Amino acid sequence: MPIFPRISLKPEVCDHLKSIFLNKELLAAVGHQEAESRFQRLLMCLSHPPSYTCVRASTHLAPLEDIRQKLGEELKRQQQQMCSSSPEDVYAQILPHPHIPDVLLLPVDGPRPVQQLSSEVVVGAQCGNAVLRGAHVFAPGIIASPKYMKAGDLVSVFSDTEGKCTRGATSFQGLKVFVGNGVAEMDRSSIFCTDEPKKGIGVRMTEPLYQSPSFDGVLPSLAFLQNLPSVVVGHVLGPRPGERVLDMCAAPGGKTCHIAALMGDQGEVVALDRIRNKIDRIGQNAQMLHLHSIKVYCFNSTQAVSSDPSQDSEGPPFPPESFDRVLLDAPCSGLGQRPNMASTWSLKEICSYQPLQRKLIQAAVRLLRKGGVLVYSTCTVTLAENEEQVAWALRTFPCLTLQPQEPHIGAEGMLGAGLSPEQLRLLQRFSPELNWDQTESAVPLPHRANTDTIGFFIAKFLKH
Ligand SMILES: C[S@@+](CC[C@H](N)C(=O)[O-])C[C@H]1O[C@@H](n2cnc3c(N)ncnc32)[C@H](O)[C@@H]1O
Repeated sequence: MPIFPRISLKPEVCDHLKSIFLNKELLAAVGHQEAESRFQRLLMCLSHPPSYTCVRASTHLAPLEDIRQKLGEELKRQQQQMCSSSPEDVYAQILPHPHIPDVLLLPVDGPRPVQQLSSEVVVGAQCGNAVLRGAHVFAPGIIASPKYMKAGDLVSVFSDTEGKCTRGATSFQGLKVFVGNGVAEMDRSSIFCTDEPKKGIGVRMTEPLYQSPSFDGVLPSLAFLQNLPSVVVGHVLGPRPGERVLDMCAAPGGKTCHIAALMGDQGEVVALDRIRNKIDRIGQNAQMLHLHSIKVYCFNSTQAVSSDPSQDSEGPPFPPESFDRVLLDAPCSGLGQRPNMASTWSLKEICSYQPLQRKLIQAAVRLLRKGGVLVYSTCTVTLAENEEQVAWALRTFPCLTLQPQEPHIGAEGMLGAGLSPEQLRLLQRFSPELNWDQTESAVPLPHRANTDTIGFFIAKFLKH
């Protein structure tokens, strides 16, 4: 049974999404009842976390099986520290993905029956979502706590899904969602009564509603938390040692680092991002994963093509046709992210990404050499940012053709943008609503992991 209400959206956004999922082409193919049912399942599954955790293993540093064993030992130690009862055999629960050579999967146990306590800590929605995926509560995420909360107190943690709670409040009567129990690691005064925002764990989760291991500080160089479709992106791009690859929208660098790892750290991965304070994270991640082939620049990628093609500088802007492969993991409306219980975005905001994505695609095509590969991806579910962008790119750049993807474990592209069945088959859309069913815990993990994902989209082009 679903335990959270379906994702709360502004009515105009909900209507817009419904018009996408009940578009004419789709209705003609699957019928009204099935299309409506898929849309309702989408709204429901978006508010729930996926039923497994995906870890990308640093196979450029150690064999997968060694990492699996080390991870098993680390997580067992974590369990022993948390509870005195005999820990389960974590190693046996960590499964290699049958088709992706650098992925380990861990089942998430939930929802579990957890008794609510009288002391309540309220956290921001993002923090609440992270708790549902195995994180502890970090102090900056805490919005309200009991007046006399002391380190060591047992507390229930609630997510302020609509962002209505006032920072520093002692209680909150508005809409909140219970995410589990934990032990406060700080007094209330040290969370709220300081000039500087307090860092570190504020509440250590001991009885989360959804139990999955906390990866905070666990094998930082060997195990990288990443959603499965994001790992698929790196493999679909297929970078090879010695190549020059551009990651146009790279921060915080999860895919950049994967690309460098797949190249055996040989060649050059250029990572660009427009937001300066996100850029540091790319460098930190590269350092943590012992990757040296990554060059990071703060730059607006729509301007990344040099107007003087003879000028060959090391950093951006670059002359046309400078790269063997380009990844455009585009800024998007993010409507595929899970869990997400409420979005306060307006329809205008949701629809604002298509023009920016087109400018970025245009720059990507110019920067790619002939014979090179462009991968376009988003973590959203709209047609406008996915299949419609593919249709536009194919019309606008006759030099592009769609390519088969390897691995292809998601569904095909969605009807509604006028693409042919052959073209849709070449696209990869992770559509959790197609298989989402809370009773499916009997379905074996690797299969569940391929279907119970965030919403995501991947297109692969070749430039002729
Ligand atoms: C989906 S996120 C990228 C996630 C990243 N690829 C990863 O796997 O860790 C999109 C990124 O695009 C960046 N961005 C937005 N507009 C941009 C632009 N014009 N040029 C470069 N980066 C941009 C945002 O700052 C954001 O970090």
